[in-house]
This record gives sequence, C-alpha cells and structure tokens, in this order.
Amino acid sequence: MKLDLLCVGLTTLDVVGRPITDIPKDEGGRLIEQIACAPAGTAAGAACVAARLGLQVGLAGAIGDDLTGKFVRFALEEEGVDTRLLETLKGVPTSTTILPIDDKGRRPTLHAPGAGSVPPLTEKLLSEAPGVRCLHYGAIGAPTFDGGPGAELLKAAKAGGAEVTCDLIAPRPEAKEELKRILPYVDWFLPSADEARMLTGQDDLEAAAADFIAMGAKNCVIKDGGRGAVMAAGELRGRLPAFKIDVVDTTTCGDSFCAGFISAHLKGWGDFDALKFAAATAAMVAQGLATYGKLQGFEQVEAAINTLPIQEGEA
Ligand SMILES: Nc1ncnc2c1ncn2[C@@H]1O[C@H](COP(=O)(O)OP(=O)(O)OP(=O)(O)O)[C@@H](O)[C@H]1O
Ligand SMILES: [Mg+2]
Repeated sequence: MKLDLLCVGLTTLDVVGRPITDIPKDEGGRLIEQIACAPAGTAAGAACVAARLGLQVGLAGAIGDDLTGKFVRFALEEEGVDTRLLETLKGVPTSTTILPIDDKGRRPTLHAPGAGSVPPLTEKLLSEAPGVRCLHYGAIGAPTFDGGPGAELLKAAKAGGAEVTCDLIAPRPEAKEELKRILPYVDWFLPSADEARMLTGQDDLEAAAADFIAMGAKNCVIKDGGRGAVMAAGELRGRLPAFKIDVVDTTTCGDSFCAGFISAHLKGWGDFDALKFAAATAAMVAQGLATYGKLQGFEQVEAAINTLPIQEGEA
C-alpha cells in the first residue's frame, strides 16, 4: 500500500507532567495533576499526529532494545503508524525526554540522547522513499544522514513524485551546511523562529525565510509559537495568526503544525487553508498534555478553524 506520509528522523519518548513549577528538594514528594507518555520527536511526533488525522503514515527512525523502545513501538502501532522502517538498535537506549510543564504551559526539556538521534539509513528506506506521497524529513544532525546521504534520499523521493517537507530539532550551527545540501529538494521548510534566527543570524523572520528560499527551499513557513507563523510561500507573505486558546502544554506544537499542514495539503487544500489547518491542529494539541493533547481527528480540527478565536494583534 502506498504511504501518504513517511516521516524520517528523530524518534523519542516524551514523559510529560504538569503542573511543575519547581522540583521538591532532597527526597521530598508532591502530587501533580497529570503525567503522560507518548512517542515524540521531529519524525515520530509528526507521524503520530498525522496518523490521528487519518493519513497512512510510516516512520523511519530508531529505538533502543530496551523497555522504552518496546513501549514506543507499541504506541506507534496502536495509532496505526507503519513501523516496518523503525529500526531497533542493540545495546543503545531509546532517546527519552522529561518535560516538567509549568502552570503557563511552558516546557523546559531534559533529554537523554540514544538511538533516536542516530537512525540508520537503510536500503529499505532508500527503496521505499520514492513511492510515498509526502516525505517529512527530521533527520538533520543525524551522523548517518548528514554530509550527502540525506540529500540523496530527498532527491530520490522527489524524483518519485513525493512532496518533501522538513523540520529541525535543536540544530547545531553546522546544520547550515547541511541545509545547503538538502533545501534544493525541499518543497516546504518549516523551522521554528529560534532555529531560523540562529541559523541565518537574521532577527527579522521574513528576512530569515527569504534566506532559506535563497538556499533552495521552494516555500518556507517559520513557526513562532503563540505569535503564529511567518509565511514565504508562493504569493503568501506576512503572518499566519495563531488561534487563541487556553494553553495547557505546547509540547509537539511544532510537529503537529507540520503534520496538520501535510494532512490538509494531501487532501488537496490550498496553501493558506492548509496552513490554517496546521495552526488549528497545533491549537488542539496545546490544549492538553503531551503529543496529542486534545486532538481527536481531522473533522474536529476542521470545525475548530471556524470556531476558535484568533490571537489578537498578529493577524
Ligand atoms: N501559545 C500558543 N497559542 C496558540 N497556538 C500556539 C501556541 N504555541 C504554539 N502554537 C501553534 O503551534 C505552532 C508551532 O509552535 P512553535 O512555534 O512553538 O513550534 P516549534 O518551536 O517548532 O515547536 P517544537 O518544539 O514542538 O518543535 C505555532 O505556529 C502556532 O500555530
Ligand atoms: Mg520544532
């Protein structure tokens, strides 16, 4: 069966709790309202959300051969994600992040790296990539993909007719060299504001987006948290506003924005409407805890576009 979407790259487990404004001292304890665990990361987070939105999704990444890895695979399969390209690496822990969410929905992160940041680039992946409708690339920074192989993968996917989208996670400055290699194969580059500013040195996000277009990206949308997103897509310029919501936890907002955009775009929605759908998907995710938050499905998000108010001042 032809996959709608293949997500490639970072796969982690998020352990998210709220509200946590400080850690009890020494061996003190405290009751909190909620704790949730879910697959996350640039590739796995987007894969989970896109599957919930109804797409046929595959994930190419890596987990360790530990109990956490078993849980991540199980949770992906429960959501209907195809895990044939998810590799289990021997003797390596599964990448895991602890997120103590405060009473304003902010999320400091404590990350233990592992298999998720070193996914192998397998023959199976190279042969399947050209057959998918969309490839979402979240592997920049992975040593097996950087320096040429990642660009070859995207080139092959594009040659097979796939739309290519790309997001980043905590890029190092060297990521700029890798972006020069891969952006010519990227239809939609979707970094966050902090990432865009760090990589371009531009404070102004429109200028940063223009830099990425000059590096080869066909379209660029820079995600800017509660301030929405800045678009450089076809004729679209300026800000896409965020929806006004009571934020519980912004974990996976960026990945769900990508998944929402891809889902609506693959249904044939126009660029602007698909970007609004992306913002509404992220808004559903931010109203609850962890990867899915309050997200139920495509129709729910479609309804939210027309019912949720828009953040004042950024339209
Ligand atoms: N506080 C908020 N209120 C409403 N919408 C929000 C809020 N925070 C994020 N969003 C929505 O989610 C989108 C993506 O969020 P953000 O810019 O935080 O992504 P990101 O930095 O890539 O996040 P991640 O760390 O998950 O990758 C925003 O463009 C916006 O539409
Ligand atoms: Mg992000």
